[in-house]
Order: sequence, then structure tokens, then C-alpha cells
Amino acid sequence: MFGASRGVLGPVGWDVPARTGCPVASAAALRTEGDHVATASILVVDDEPAIQDILTWSLAAEGYSVATAGSGEEALTRFEEQDFDVIVTDIVMPGLNGLDLLERSRLLNPRASVIVMTAYAALETAITALRRGACDYLEKPFSMDVLKERVQRLLQYRETIWKDGLVRRALQPPAAGHTLVGESDAIRAVREQIALAARTSSNVLVTGESGVGKELVARAVHAASARHDGGFVPVNCGAIPETLLESQLFGHLRGAFTTAVQANPGLFATASHGTLFLDEIGEMALPLQVKLLRVIEEKCVLPVGGTKPVPVDARIIASTNRDLEREVEAGRFREDLFYRLNVVHLTVPPLRERRGDIPVLVDHLVERLNAKLEACCLGVERDALWSLIGRPWKGNVRELENVLERAMVFGRGELISMRDLSSDQGAAGGTPPQDLRGAVRRFERQHLMDVLAATQSDKRKAARLLGISLASLYRKLRSEDDETGSAASKSQRADDALK
Ligand SMILES: Nc1ncnc2c1ncn2[C@@H]1O[C@H](COP(=O)(O)OP(=O)(O)OP(=O)(O)O)[C@@H](O)[C@H]1O
Ligand SMILES: [Mg+2]
Repeated sequence: MFGASRGVLGPVGWDVPARTGCPVASAAALRTEGDHVATASILVVDDEPAIQDILTWSLAAEGYSVATAGSGEEALTRFEEQDFDVIVTDIVMPGLNGLDLLERSRLLNPRASVIVMTAYAALETAITALRRGACDYLEKPFSMDVLKERVQRLLQYRETIWKDGLVRRALQPPAAGHTLVGESDAIRAVREQIALAARTSSNVLVTGESGVGKELVARAVHAASARHDGGFVPVNCGAIPETLLESQLFGHLRGAFTTAVQANPGLFATASHGTLFLDEIGEMALPLQVKLLRVIEEKCVLPVGGTKPVPVDARIIASTNRDLEREVEAGRFREDLFYRLNVVHLTVPPLRERRGDIPVLVDHLVERLNAKLEACCLGVERDALWSLIGRPWKGNVRELENVLERAMVFGRGELISMRDLSSDQGAAGGTPPQDLRGAVRRFERQHLMDVLAATQSDKRKAARLLGISLASLYRKLRSEDDETGSAASKSQRADDALK
């Protein structure tokens, strides 16, 4: 045992019992359970070399890979070299103390579980440490048996969480393709509108920014409708040249044009008793809009090269990210067709207006990506999640999906960390600047936003983590505001999202 007063203790003061005295399963037994325990790496941080030595000796004797740091600052440089599973740190150290280190580790080595060593009767400090994310605390004096037991328990716990995650994912297949995930009021409202729209066969217009989930909404309407046994036939009106789109939609007879070597019934006929999804309807050329209007009114198509109208019974769901009313005013979209399509109007709100949905969307998308990439990612670290919540998401859910996919492909662990996300070049949006000053500013801007999101917009805390004064953080934010007009409000939005 060693006493509460620091500075007078040496290895001789420690109680190092026989290994058989361990009250929990031996480390050797644990090591057979999973690679995560077998390869456990531990960082011991204490400014007293003698204490470093005894802790290192005891833990290394259990088979762990142990590194040491003599100060909080040295621990930070260790984080650059390696990710640790467990950090055992003293609280009272000159310079960066254990609590500060704990906070930095949440950003720099977020996968690590931290055990703090507190002085006898320093319960307040222990509670503060636990509140700030420590997993456990050891009250001095403690025996090496206790230390080993706590470390083993912690590793066992991490292993269980990891296995639980795998089992949960194995037992719960990814949600069906048309599940609209989200619990925000906005998404709940969309879900209610989907249910109402599904009860009818009326045409539906789905609008919203790119990547918000318009197609998903269209599929959900179809899946919930009486037509769900018929096909859902999507066609991207912006991707096909006008003449080809006409023959694709309405069909053509054999020999109707030089390449028409055989007849094609067309997508309207294919979607009979089902749903025809006209994606990017705003891109459709005006002459074709006229023909489409006629089909809707007469419920018949005239195949290219044909003379006999063919009856069709397709429900139409159209979608666009354009403001169709403005397109009508500008003469680029036919007003009569607009009213025919816009019988039921569903608007999908941008992701930045429903940031509270981001955590559940992340879970859902990670599961989907696990299936796609044959990966077993367990999710996103808390700090990384805050950073995701704070981003502008101009590309909405699709952008979020792409960011997660990149992080899963290039990430190093079973949880997506800030580090995995910070390599994401799409985060700041736009083309990266070529000059060094522009690139540094861009990185600084993103980093400020990430730290603010991670600290839940606590600027005092953010300044401390960034290692700058509160005044310079404000100055930087002001210049960000000048530049982007929205930096501070962005962190505010991250706050609002989880209120
Ligand atoms: N609420 C949601 N729940 C689950 N997944 C979603 C949600 N919203 C969007 N997605 C997913 O995000 C991706 C983009 O969605 P979708 O293709 O429906 O968007 P969109 O609005 O049609 O995009 P675009 O305008 O670019 O065509 C898809 O993989 C979709 O499954
Ligand atoms: Mg789409």
C-alpha cells in the first residue's frame, strides 16, 4: 500500500500480492476470450517515476502492453503515436492535470477508457472525473490486486459491449429499404402524410433539397399503398435525352425508329397497377410535359410509332429539388401539369432543420453500411457524433451516408472517431483551396466547429481544449462569422438539435 501524501512513496510502499490472489478471472483466461482483451494497451500517467514503474510492472506482468508518460503533456504525445484501450492517470500533476488529460483524451483518444487515481478523501474530484467521462477511479492507497481487478473488469466490460453490438447487429437485420428513420416533429409529420397519401391513388409531388430522402418517401408511399403488389418503377427524367425518355415512358412499336428492333411497352405500362416515380420532373422538356399531361388526363399512352392508345393505370409520384411554382412563373414548367402532379404535396425538410434525427440516422446508416461493406462497425464516438450534428449538411442524408461510408472504409477501429471523420475532405464543402493559408484557415474553421460541437458549444471548455484564450476563441469565431456568416449559429444549431 502507499500513503495518501504524495512524494514520499517508492515501490517498496506498494503491496504486490501473488497473482493468484486476483478476485476475478485471470488475465490469461480473459485473453482467450477475445482479441480485444489480448491486445489491450494501457497508458500509465504519473509524474512520479517510482509509481510509474510499479504500475507498469504489475500490469505488464499480466500480459498487457504498457506505455508510460511522466506528465499530461507527454501523454498527449503518446496519443499521437498510439490508441490506448485504457489510461490510468493520476489527477494531481504539474502542468496538464489528470482532469484536463481526461478531457483531451476524449478528443484525441476517444476509444480509451480512463481510470483516474485520486487521493484519499478526494471524492469530489472522483465524482468530477466520472462526470467528465472517466470509467472508474482508484482511491489511494490501493493495492495492485485492486488495480488489476479494475482493469480486467473494464476490459471485460468493453469486450461485452463489443460482442453485444455484434450480436444485436446480427439478430436485427437492417431496416427495410423504405424505412424513413427519424423522430423529429418534421419527420413524424412526413410519416403521417405518407400514410394519408398511401390511402389514395392521387398523384403525389415530393419536394425537398438534394439527398433529403425524396425517393425514399416515394417508395414509402408506394409500399404502404394498395398498389404495393404492383411495381415501383423509377425513372430519372433528368438523366435521359428527351426523345429517348418519350419512348421509354410511353413505349414504342417495333421499327418505330432505326434502333427500335423490338417493341417496348414503356414504363407507364410496366407500372400499371403500381407506381411510376418520375424523379427530377423539373428537368423534363416542355414538349414532353404536354404529352405527359395528356397521358394523365386520358389514362392512355400512345406508343411511339403507334396509332392506338393503350390504357394504363399507373399512380404517379413525381419529385424535384426545384421550386416548381417558380419554374411555372418562369415559363419552364407547365402550370396545368404542375396542378395535375401536385394533388398531394409532400415536402421533406433539410437535415440541418432536424439535427435531432442525426443520431438515429447515423445508427441506421451504419447498420446499412455494415451490410453493404461486410463490416462490423459499432457506431460513432460521442464526440464524433457531436461533430456530425454540427455540420451544415448541404447534401443532406446522402452526404451523411457518404461521410460515414468513407469513415468506415478508412477508419481504424470498430467505432468511428473524430480522427476518422477529420480525414473527411467533404466536411468543409467545396473545392479545397490550393494555397497554404487558405488550407490552414479551412482546417482551422472545421476544427473550431468540431471542438465546439464536441463541447456542446461550451466556449470556455472549447477554448481550454483548443489551448487558446476565450478572447481569441471569440475573435476567431467573429472572423468565422464574417467569412461564413453562420459559424456561431452553426454551433448554436448543434445545441438546439438536442434540446
Ligand atoms: N429519413 C431517412 N431514413 C433513412 N434513410 C434515409 C432517410 N433520408 C434519406 N435516406 C437515405 O439517404 C439517401 C438519399 O435519399 P434519396 O435518394 O431518397 O434522396 P433524394 O432526395 O431522392 O435525393 P436526390 O435529390 O439527390 O435525388 C438514400 O440512401 C436514402 O436511403
Ligand atoms: Mg432522388
